[in-house]
Amino acid sequence: MAESSLFLRALRGEPVERFPVWLMRQAGRYMPEYRALRSKVKNFWELCSTVELAVEVTLLPERLLGVDALILFSDILVPLKALGFGVRFEEGKGPLLEVPPPSEWRRFDPSEVSFVFETVKGVKKRSSLPLIGFGGAPFTLAAYAFEGKTSREFKEVRKVLHGNPKLFDLVMEKLTEMSVEYLSEQVKAGADALQLFDSWAFVLSPEAFGRYSRWLRELALELKRRHPETPVIYFFRGSGHLYRKAFELPFDAFSIDWTLDLETALRAVGGAALQGNLDPALLFAPEEVLKEETLKVLEAAARKRKTKFVFNLGHGIWPETDPAKVRFLVEVVKG
Ligand code: CP3
Repeated sequence: MAESSLFLRALRGEPVERFPVWLMRQAGRYMPEYRALRSKVKNFWELCSTVELAVEVTLLPERLLGVDALILFSDILVPLKALGFGVRFEEGKGPLLEVPPPSEWRRFDPSEVSFVFETVKGVKKRSSLPLIGFGGAPFTLAAYAFEGKTSREFKEVRKVLHGNPKLFDLVMEKLTEMSVEYLSEQVKAGADALQLFDSWAFVLSPEAFGRYSRWLRELALELKRRHPETPVIYFFRGSGHLYRKAFELPFDAFSIDWTLDLETALRAVGGAALQGNLDPALLFAPEEVLKEETLKVLEAAARKRKTKFVFNLGHGIWPETDPAKVRFLVEVVKG
């Protein structure tokens, strides 16, 4: 059962026979089986909102990779629809948002994205693996909200943070409140753990991150109050310059990327669990190299601790990755 799974035991710091493994974007475009399911619908939004298909996609990595945890198939931008945003995913362009002025954002109503919670329930009926629910962290969601699309620099949110702190805080407050409700609904539907994706926080200086982090603290504490048994993992890219500030936050686990040396992270993280941190580019190295680098990660973790470590990449699997390499990686970790 999920409760006694390797993944949850490792996060809780209970004894484990080996480190668990799952991979960000483990169900995605690199997989022919994903592309086949994706081709049944006209766009990505429809894939996320068609419960039977989202359940099938979520389950793919159990059979095809043999991972130790599943992650809900959805997207961090999905719940913004319930605030009154227009959310579209255009082929080749990525997400496109139509964003009303913040004062007009609706209060988050979970029934508007009930397909997400139905997907959680559907996956729990079909698999005994632990299921990770997720959401975007307030800064990363705000980065998309102010930009309206994806970007290399996310200048708009940074202009607001420094130029109009009142507006920044209003937006943070609304997105934090929404995130608590959204993640909480996923737990009520059956999610065993949560991951908060802060993919764009690395555009901030440590000082600016420090100011923003009060919202992360609030989010973590409120989730802990409502769901004390559910571990929450905080994923932040650009971990190298942000880890000191990030590790002060009351999350159960931190998911780091390859810009932070694992030994340093293990020393700095205190009592929280760590997840990471192989560069997804290593999936393009020859098998011997991939194996060697993966074993280095596992050995570094094992030297420092026997549990409280989860193997993952430092960011999602790239679409052009060979699925056989991903399977190989999982086998190496499982030993
Ligand atoms: O990890 C998983 O397997 C679960 C599914 C998942 C998706 N998106 C599916 C997806 C998760 C956890 C996300 C999170 C997400 N979405 C993040 C945070 C993690 C990260 O990657 O940094 C961000 C920033 C987004 C926003 C987003 N969604 C962008 C920028 C894009 C377009 C770029 C791209 O990679 O295509 C998406 C679309 C998206 N989300 C796809 C998938 C599988 C591709 C859609 C398709 O099939 O065409």
